[in-house]
Amino acid sequence: MSERLAVVVGVTGGIAAYKAVSVVRELVLAGHDVHVIATEQALRFVGRPTLEAISRNPVRTDLFEDVAEVRHVRMGQTADVVVIAPATANTIAKLAAGLADDLLGSTVLASRAPLVLAPAMHTEMWQHPATVANVALLRERGVAFVGPESGRLTGEDAGPGRMSEPADIVAAAIAAAGPRDLAGVRVVVSAGGTREPIDPVRYIGNRSSGRQGIELAVAARDRGAEVTLVAAHLELPAPSGVRLVAAGTAEELRAAMLAAAAEADVVVMAAAVADYRTRDVSPTKIKKDAQGDRLDLALVRNPDILAELTAARRPGQVYIGFAAETEPDGEALVALGRAKAARKGVDLLVLNRVGWDEGFGAESPNRVLVLDAAGSVRGEASGSKSHVAGRVLDAVQTVRNRSK
Ligand SMILES: Cc1cc2nc3c(=O)[nH]c(=O)nc-3n(C[C@H](O)[C@H](O)[C@H](O)COP(=O)(O)O)c2cc1C
Repeated sequence: MSERLAVVVGVTGGIAAYKAVSVVRELVLAGHDVHVIATEQALRFVGRPTLEAISRNPVRTDLFEDVAEVRHVRMGQTADVVVIAPATANTIAKLAAGLADDLLGSTVLASRAPLVLAPAMHTEMWQHPATVANVALLRERGVAFVGPESGRLTGEDAGPGRMSEPADIVAAAIAAAGPRDLAGVRVVVSAGGTREPIDPVRYIGNRSSGRQGIELAVAARDRGAEVTLVAAHLELPAPSGVRLVAAGTAEELRAAMLAAAAEADVVVMAAAVADYRTRDVSPTKIKKDAQGDRLDLALVRNPDILAELTAARRPGQVYIGFAAETEPDGEALVALGRAKAARKGVDLLVLNRVGWDEGFGAESPNRVLVLDAAGSVRGEASGSKSHVAGRVLDAVQTVRNRSK
């Protein structure tokens, strides 16, 4: 993002406060205007001079300092995003209760900016019913959480409670401050890979991790959309703040998508759906002793969900398909995409090349071409799946604006 954001970084009193310095530093290096509000306790863990030097701004703590400026109101109103890293159990509890007995609490209440919390605490504190309830309440109010991760804590112990890495906190803050150009738009995203049962313990599946679909759901959510995520065997946790519908098989995904799409403005079919399913699912585990050296499975075609969805389209709806192809030649790849865009009746087709070491997996980057309904290349994006998700939504907005 090139836009310079006004970011309020709240730092509270936990050991991970030393990592807040890196959060501030990354935000400043990315060109943002960073103002640190530290709690009294935070300054027992990390020095004010460090935070001031790194943020290039005074560090505020006291609600009653420079009262004429009504600082908490000004900082709250001018912030594009407020991020609290680390967020202690104590501060989370205070925020859930809406307490404003210090500069940080008052600023949060005086702000309409998105709030991002990066909790850090011992596992027992994180899993305490009081903290669990506070976090749930804040999530319900639209507060974004990044982490905590599971890992080594302060002492010898390990478990959930470790603060997320500064780069992830910065990314979450910037995403939360991003454009709200999908506010109120109903977006349905399918993600993951279907599994077609062979018998009660085996299935035919694929290598989709669900990451690209999850990133699309997150990006749409952060831009203000009401998101339904139809999830088929995600390898990663589903994001918060979206409606989750689980679908295991192609048939289940079809039913979930038909129902969700009827209410949607934008439908993104990012799940990898099996083209074939087993004709006869064995009710009991197939035994090799009974089969001998060879097992023949009869497969039958699954319905073409995307074509079915677009055939039932309502005016104004936008449909986006994904095509993962192994074709090595660039022109032939685009030709495949063009044919698929026409066959599926989509407004946009996101085309990427996949292979043994390309495209799949939760961490691997993605490189895509975005084709329009006529098969012309409308854009390309490469980088993290989160970056690609943003560019795909930009293309969706272009289609939506054209049809207005
Ligand atoms: C050495 C030490 C480490 C602490 N680490 C944490 C922590 O990681 N997370 C947490 O929630 N509280 C931690 N606490 C407790 C908080 O400092 C305490 O709850 C404090 O009141 C938080 O104030 P604040 O939320 O206003 O910053 C720690 C306390 C001490 C003495």
